[in-house]
Amino acid sequence: MKIIKNKSLKTFFEYSLKHKWLMLGVIILSTVTSLAAALPAWLSKYLIDDVFIAKNRKMMVLIIGAIGITTIIKVVSGYYANITSSYVTETIKKDIRVDVFKHLQYLPLSYFKKNKLGDLMSRLSGDTSILGQIGFIMFDMGKEAIAVLALTFRMFQVDYVLALISLVVLPLIISTVRKYTKKIRESGRVRQDTMGEVVAFIQESLSGISIIKAFNRSEVMIHKYKQLSQDEFEKSYRSRKISAKVSPINEVIATFMILLVALYGAYNIVTSKMSAGDLVSFLTAVGLMQQPLKRLIQKNNSLQEALPSADRVIEIMELALEQEYHGEVKTFSGKAETIEFKNVSFKYENKKEKALDDINLKVKRGEVIALIGQSGSGKTTMVNLIPRFYEIEEGTILVNNIDIRNYALKEYRNYIGIVPQETILFSGTVAENLRFGKENVTDEQVIEAAKMANAYDFIMEMEKGFDTEVGERGTLISGGQKQRLAIARALIQDPEIMILDEATSALDSESEKLVQEALEKLMKNRTTFVIAHRLSTIVDADKIVVMKQGKILEVGTHEELIKKDGAYKGLYTIQFGDKNNLKEKE
Ligand SMILES: Nc1ncnc2c1ncn2[C@@H]1O[C@H](COP(=O)(O)OP(=O)(O)OP(=O)(O)O)[C@@H](O)[C@H]1O
Ligand SMILES: [Mg+2]
Repeated sequence: MKIIKNKSLKTFFEYSLKHKWLMLGVIILSTVTSLAAALPAWLSKYLIDDVFIAKNRKMMVLIIGAIGITTIIKVVSGYYANITSSYVTETIKKDIRVDVFKHLQYLPLSYFKKNKLGDLMSRLSGDTSILGQIGFIMFDMGKEAIAVLALTFRMFQVDYVLALISLVVLPLIISTVRKYTKKIRESGRVRQDTMGEVVAFIQESLSGISIIKAFNRSEVMIHKYKQLSQDEFEKSYRSRKISAKVSPINEVIATFMILLVALYGAYNIVTSKMSAGDLVSFLTAVGLMQQPLKRLIQKNNSLQEALPSADRVIEIMELALEQEYHGEVKTFSGKAETIEFKNVSFKYENKKEKALDDINLKVKRGEVIALIGQSGSGKTTMVNLIPRFYEIEEGTILVNNIDIRNYALKEYRNYIGIVPQETILFSGTVAENLRFGKENVTDEQVIEAAKMANAYDFIMEMEKGFDTEVGERGTLISGGQKQRLAIARALIQDPEIMILDEATSALDSESEKLVQEALEKLMKNRTTFVIAHRLSTIVDADKIVVMKQGKILEVGTHEELIKKDGAYKGLYTIQFGDKNNLKEKE
């Protein structure tokens, strides 16, 4: 009863309901297999009493025939039960894996900032496999349980006193199994979490391999990995040790039971209360029961080990998704005439201080808004609120005077393009990366965008041009080139609102110029928020927003803010030199 409450099993049952007819098939086939396997407990009585003792020839033929036929039935139905249950469990495993991936895709961004990638990966790959195994284990347990029940029935049929004597030990067996079940499950959970840590560590150290090499820290990493592995080893070994105890204990109990039965049985035969066939039949039943019972216990151990692992998968499924919209849903017209931050304050979950404090800003369509300010002043946080990466609790962001929380998220985000500080390329060709899942984009449009982004020439210089495979993280492409690819990608998407996180990394003046030109084209005909580090972007912006510690200090054009002689001018002088220098640039 306790088991059913487990969420993994519940999920497994829910998924298996989609295949109820196949499940029924598995149940029937397994029942047939188990009964066929239990049949010798009946046949043996007749074999002894009628064939060996009474020497009945007809019976001999019948029994030998029956043994042959049941063997065939057992083998055939066993085979089909096996492949059908494999089919069902593999299908369920696949379905769950796809659903978990789907769920992950729609989780709020904060979840991914909080959790290690490697741990998520180990949950999605390793732990879903184990979740699939639960299926096999359950089917097997069902099969063994039927055999055990049939044989128990046979024991009572032969002699209920004898059966009761042998079953006295059963509660003992059950109580040991129970006692260890909980322990096995707990240690399994600990082990699986440690495994997640190990995978996360591998993931981090491989993706950071160039830094590790540059800092010459390979040995430190190896040492850390050794420690983690040792920890994992200890937990695995502990968990194995606990489950290993169950079988020997039960075997001792079972042997004790056989001794009792043999004693009482022999006494009954000697006093002629029982035929030899009956006793053999009873002992056959007891004998036949040993294996299924043992397997039942072993399978239970494996199940208890697998459940925590499976729980780690289900936990993901239970996390709240991004809320599609709040209140009454509104359709986004596709044109953002105004974008307004109204008294917006924002705090990250795990932080005490506000990352944004009472932000007010109104922007008109087509404007370029340059955000500047010290590191940590809240620039990225502010632009991340526009696509609703994080939900705000204080204040509102309005687009066309409608709270953005009222727009259907998937639709609304279609109109927002982002060129992040660090470009992420996915495995696939250059063209695929530029299209990025947008299917109705023609080759001409891709080429056009690449040309506008000043990326065309270097793409054509690559071995296979637009069909060149990009390595996992675009290893063969330089920083400036990646940026231009990101710009081309955004141009293809043609978003209404553009968010640009300018890379701080200094490019050589040639690529700098190419990137700058590309950016200028990208900013045309849309509203652009740019976290700016380049002088030209800042000077040309329609609004410069100066931020400090989550607050907006000043807003205005370059001329206005220089005239004002406030924070902007200070920053400007520090960053781009003195006034004379400035005049030259202008
Ligand atoms: N995911 C996060 N979780 C918790 N705190 C965060 C998170 N991201 C940023 N912060 C904090 O919020 C504040 C503002 O950070 P933000 O990234 O917006 O600054 P920024 O102006 O973009 O800085 P930079 O110029 O260095 O990119 C900082 O104090 C930062 O530590
Ligand atoms: Mg930032």
